[in-house]
Amino acid sequence: MNFADDFPILSQTVRGRRLVYLDNAATSQKPRAVIDAIRDYYERDNANIHRGVHLLSERATELYEAARGKVRSFLNAREDAEIVFVRGATEAINLVAQSFGRANVKAGDEVVLSAIEHHSNIVPWQMLCGERGAKLRVIPMTDAGELILEEYESLLNARTKIVALTHVSNALGTVNPVKAMIEKAHAKGIPVLVDGAQAVPHRPVDVQALDCDFYVFSGHKMCAPTGIGALYGKRAHLEKMPPYQGGGDMIRMVTFEKTLYNDIPFKFEAGTPNIEGAVGLGAAIDYLSGIGMPRIAARENELLDYATTALSRVKDLRIIGTAKEKAGVVSFLLGDIHPHDIGTILDQEGIAIRTGHHCAMPVMERLGISATARASLAFYNTKEDIDALVSGLEKVRAIFK
Ligand SMILES: Cc1ncc(COP(=O)(O)O)c(C=O)c1O
Repeated sequence: MNFADDFPILSQTVRGRRLVYLDNAATSQKPRAVIDAIRDYYERDNANIHRGVHLLSERATELYEAARGKVRSFLNAREDAEIVFVRGATEAINLVAQSFGRANVKAGDEVVLSAIEHHSNIVPWQMLCGERGAKLRVIPMTDAGELILEEYESLLNARTKIVALTHVSNALGTVNPVKAMIEKAHAKGIPVLVDGAQAVPHRPVDVQALDCDFYVFSGHKMCAPTGIGALYGKRAHLEKMPPYQGGGDMIRMVTFEKTLYNDIPFKFEAGTPNIEGAVGLGAAIDYLSGIGMPRIAARENELLDYATTALSRVKDLRIIGTAKEKAGVVSFLLGDIHPHDIGTILDQEGIAIRTGHHCAMPVMERLGISATARASLAFYNTKEDIDALVSGLEKVRAIFK
């Protein structure tokens, strides 16, 4: 089971060493199948979509819409119309905040977020609340990085207009019990957006089983190119929401007096979209589905257990984020060595990890730290990668002795 062979980039040496790529939460590597699909598209099918009368336009349109169908099936949404292509999770959240948010949130209302959100699921809501005179309410977390569910329930009230919640934390690896949290919100008639940027690449996601109102993710974290992602929204919401951007393709009819908007999802896809990205995302979904998401989740769990045990044995190493339910993210501190120094020394060994606040500054503040070193796993990682990380960290310790 050596998936790394499917990823051309992983066969190189960097700084004279075998590349050990452990920065998958930032972005994943791309398998040959995705790279080939993009090249084939440009060599054979490239044209603009939805309006051409010629064969290439027909083919490009088919590929783009087939990719939408693949996303629908990957998330188990009811229909293709509930899948809107966007640049990524960030754009999807901004779309919902600006479109659904502006239509539904007014002065005195509240938006509920959690203490472990990525900045992408904080700032758009902060902007909306600032504009509307509404208030952000934050579900607190424990020292282990788990949300305090009793506090969550007490935050939900008649002023709450939406709950926006990450499925998996990029900084701590915590997997939130989103299904139960959605049920609690729905019991009070409150819609829920789930940020699935760190979940969709690593485990099966079923939006109908979750019954979330919106679900967002980025392609580049799941083997697809950058600049493509998707927003899932229930038809009833998307139909009521005003367009986010105006332009070509999102209209049915335009005069200087007025515009009739197109149907969903096209109403939200103004201008020429990232066709190449959608083709690549479709190929990534085929590739991941070929392996099987349950198998990917099991493999990553095994790697996470191995990494947690191996890293716990490194003297002075403290894992940050010890929730019971975790995905393949291990954030850590090593004595009082600055995480940036850890990252720089590991880089000399050919090991790529992330250091810093991971776009989750409130998490760092809550824990009283400024940064962590973070190793984040993908199914194509191996136990040897983790062994290399451990010996790299021993070198770091030796240098700082
Ligand atoms: C939990 C989470 N949400 C949102 C994002 C933003 O994703 P993107 O930059 O692809 O829009 C990330 C990226 O790190 C993330 O980890």
